[in-house]
Amino acid sequence: MSLLAMNDVSLSFGGVKAVQDVSFSVEKGEVFSIIGPNGAGKSTLFNLISRLYDCESGQIFWQGEEITSVPSHRIAELGIARTFQNTELFEHETVLRNLLIGKHIHRRSNAVADMFFLPSVRRQELVFRKEVEDVIDLLNLQHYRDQVIANLPYGVRKMVEVARALCIQPKAVLLDEPSSGLNPEETEDVSFWIEDINEELGATVIMVEHDMKLVSQVSDRVLALADGQVLATGTPPEIQQHPEVLRAYLGDAE
Ligand SMILES: Nc1ncnc2c1ncn2[C@@H]1O[C@H](COP(=O)(O)OP(=O)(O)OP(=O)(O)O)[C@@H](O)[C@H]1O
Ligand SMILES: [Mg+2]
Repeated sequence: MSLLAMNDVSLSFGGVKAVQDVSFSVEKGEVFSIIGPNGAGKSTLFNLISRLYDCESGQIFWQGEEITSVPSHRIAELGIARTFQNTELFEHETVLRNLLIGKHIHRRSNAVADMFFLPSVRRQELVFRKEVEDVIDLLNLQHYRDQVIANLPYGVRKMVEVARALCIQPKAVLLDEPSSGLNPEETEDVSFWIEDINEELGATVIMVEHDMKLVSQVSDRVLALADGQVLATGTPPEIQQHPEVLRAYLGDAE
């Protein structure tokens, strides 16, 4: 059984077929990349999986169960976390507070227990803190933990957004263009932390990415999209030599 499966999923915006009869599946433990020219429908696919958008047709399955109509707030509970193409953090809070807030948003809370700060709540709070500190260590954010987001360089903010996604201890994390806006050295680091997320945390990684070097370095399999449709799925070398993929990219060249 696949971890995630999309079955003939479609969505249009007005006349634009953003995603058209897209099918693919991601296996547990994979690093699975989605590539394609601008406007291919990559972010829309993520918005469909995270249930921000409804499918017009088709089905989405998570661990064999259909989640096509599951409300978006349940997606994190199922173990699916994501980052956005543009970072969305609390600008005036510290790194640590952003991560703790991310954690609290998704936990099952009991208002009465919280109000009286009962021992069970305190114990849970300690577990949360430990889990958040582990993520800070994994992504090497110790130096920034008490700094306010608004004062941080772009590359670090992107890392904090990834950290926030990891704080819910996801089974799968969806990364939308993790290397965009980063310099070559920072992009090199992305390949290392993707491996850490995949191997140390055991999370399946599904990423949208334009940097083909990064895609080739880390991906088990790649899905190539253009104009909302699947061109091919395969290993990085298979995809890089695929005639349809080459045509889509050459056609897109400026
Ligand atoms: N909320 C929306 N309303 C209207 N059109 C949209 C919306 N979201 C996406 N689209 C359109 O759907 C198509 C696919 O967009 P999408 O953002 O998924 O592309 P993408 O592959 O992520 O591109 P990029 O590489 O530029 O991020 C585009 O034509 C886009 O203009
Ligand atoms: Mg996009």
